[in-house]
Amino acid sequence: MKAMIYTEYGTPDVFLKAEITKPVPKKNEVLVKIYATTVTTADVRLRSLNVPRGFGLIIRLVQGLTKPRKPILGSDFAGVVESIGNQVNEFKVGDRVFGSSKTGTYAEYTTIKEEGAITLIPENLSFEEVAALPFGALTSLTFLEEVSDKLKGQSILINGASGSLGTNAVQMAKNYGAVVTGICSGKNVELVKSLGADEVIDYTKEDYLKRGMKYDIIYDTLGIISPKESLSMLNEGGKHLMAVATVPQYYDMFKYNLTKKVKIKAGVALFNKKNIESVAKLAEQIKLKSVIDKIYPLEAISEAHRYVDLGHKVGNVVIKIQ
Ligand SMILES: NC(=O)c1ccc[n+]([C@@H]2O[C@H](COP(=O)([O-])OP(=O)(O)OC[C@H]3O[C@@H](n4cnc5c(N)ncnc54)[C@H](OP(=O)(O)O)[C@@H]3O)[C@@H](O)[C@H]2O)c1
Repeated sequence: MKAMIYTEYGTPDVFLKAEITKPVPKKNEVLVKIYATTVTTADVRLRSLNVPRGFGLIIRLVQGLTKPRKPILGSDFAGVVESIGNQVNEFKVGDRVFGSSKTGTYAEYTTIKEEGAITLIPENLSFEEVAALPFGALTSLTFLEEVSDKLKGQSILINGASGSLGTNAVQMAKNYGAVVTGICSGKNVELVKSLGADEVIDYTKEDYLKRGMKYDIIYDTLGIISPKESLSMLNEGGKHLMAVATVPQYYDMFKYNLTKKVKIKAGVALFNKKNIESVAKLAEQIKLKSVIDKIYPLEAISEAHRYVDLGHKVGNVVIKIQ
């Protein structure tokens, strides 16, 4: 099969066009012919090893000390089931499916366990639309579910509201009944409002730290608001959710959780069956829409990485494979 592989860490130019063996699904796996995938901020981190302070060695130990162990990057996929293992019950050949794969998706095919983060594509949605969902939606769902019982009628500040995590978070927080304030740059204010934000702060014009506003929840998708800064922006009993945190910030988190009347939480997203099914349901009911910035062909993966590297993408960058 056709794939864009990387055999060394580095700039977006590391990708090479390759013809590699098509995977064969194990007895509990599904083989998916991929129609669309994405370039996520995680892909960019794994390619460049530009990771939050203190995590460099850990990532190398997991991904490969001197070069990547797995040559195919990418996790989001949308496509059609091509074949199934003999113990697969949930899916059949020809099903339209989407989800998050651990075996790489910058290729024509990927395999995934049937009990993994894979589900049927709602009929009303295209491959491109659903490929742009898993990364941002599963991450924001993981963080916001933590506080879902507290969101109705409560105030939430979402930083990075125009990104992949942020565009999903704004919609989800509104679905939970929260009063949403988003932070983004001026050019994305109208988009963030259209996703449901009640108020939008343009960070290029206003320093939100100087506003004197307090919130019940802060969801910082970018790791910009430090635990110390959130102390002055949270109501008593409030919670600061950090999608990105450095090792020193983890230290502050543990310290403040023991000594202050707020809670700070960092962690990793749950890319699992339950969450992808929730996301599919929200998307089917049009309670969650994916935001697509640009679409590239697979051969232009380096160009797509160069664009995501800039840190200004709006929602998601999709790669069309078929
Ligand atoms: N914990 C986990 O399990 C987990 C899972 C997934 C992702 N992540 C992390 O989450 C982070 C965000 O990912 P993403 O994919 O959502 O990023 P993204 O799509 O690149 O979004 C970044 C967005 O934030 C805006 N932005 C840039 N600087 C900003 C600032 N100073 N204040 C407010 N907005 C700003 C950008 O637009 P403008 O520049 O035009 O404003 C852009 O729209 C990544 O670092 C990723 O590694 C963590």
